[in-house]
Amino acid sequence: MRLNSANINVMVKACRKASKNLIRDFGEVEQLQVSQKGPGDFVTASDKKVEKILIEELQKARPGYSILSEEIGEINNDNPFRWIIDPIDGTSNFLHGIPHFAISIGLEHNKEIIAGIIYDPIKDEMFTAEKGNGAYLNNHRLRVSSRSKLKECIVFTGGPKINSKNKEQSLKEYEKFSSTVMIPIRKLGSAALDIAYVAAGRCDGYWQRNLKYWDIAAGIILVKEAGGFVSDFNGSEKFVENETILVTNSRINKEMIEILNN
Ligand code: IPD
Ligand code: CA
Ligand code: CA
Repeated sequence: MRLNSANINVMVKACRKASKNLIRDFGEVEQLQVSQKGPGDFVTASDKKVEKILIEELQKARPGYSILSEEIGEINNDNPFRWIIDPIDGTSNFLHGIPHFAISIGLEHNKEIIAGIIYDPIKDEMFTAEKGNGAYLNNHRLRVSSRSKLKECIVFTGGPKINSKNKEQSLKEYEKFSSTVMIPIRKLGSAALDIAYVAAGRCDGYWQRNLKYWDIAAGIILVKEAGGFVSDFNGSEKFVENETILVTNSRINKEMIEILNN
């Protein structure tokens, strides 16, 4: 069984169409690594092309919906429904020929995310979720992990970027978690997939600062529908405004919040 609603089908179709280009371009990027100029401009063009295909497909199926997308910004149609799009999440991986990146699309209704899709075209892993109908990876229902001792967990993070305003804080947080967990912290380079992996029970907890709404929109509903928690570092729902996000299974949430606040 998989999710089969009209809006999910629209998102799946758009992702599948755009990913044909993405996979082809990824093959090119691998070749360009050895060229003098490198793949920079090519990747920027690829990002924009993927975004264009996604928007065309979504607009064709749902002409009135508003859109917020990383590269083009806002298309405001004064509609309670809004697509939140990150055409390539994990661009640095893509640019360096590392096969770990995703298309991410969230659907908002009256400012609440009600459906989402995160698609890893290289592994052909389609993560989908819809409010009240569960979270899926391809045809399988997802549940977050049940590990309860943070020490035994696998945790992910990302950043800080070179110019991050919270660099010191981020490094301190990293230090605290790396003194708590036995398995070294992972940094895989795609926030969308990091969150999808918590929903899939592959990762037990994930924290990061300074993310944008399009990095996390689809992930929010995936984790909630898989039985996990999404909050800011204090446990509040203001993770978008506060630009701190904590995503966990249902058992290690308190322990991670304590570490982040001590
Ligand atoms: C980035 C990725 C990365 C995260 C960065 C994001 P992009 O998105 O999600 O994992 O650490 O903060 O900007 O630029 O690849 O779409
Ligand atoms: Ca992103
Ligand atoms: Ca992006």
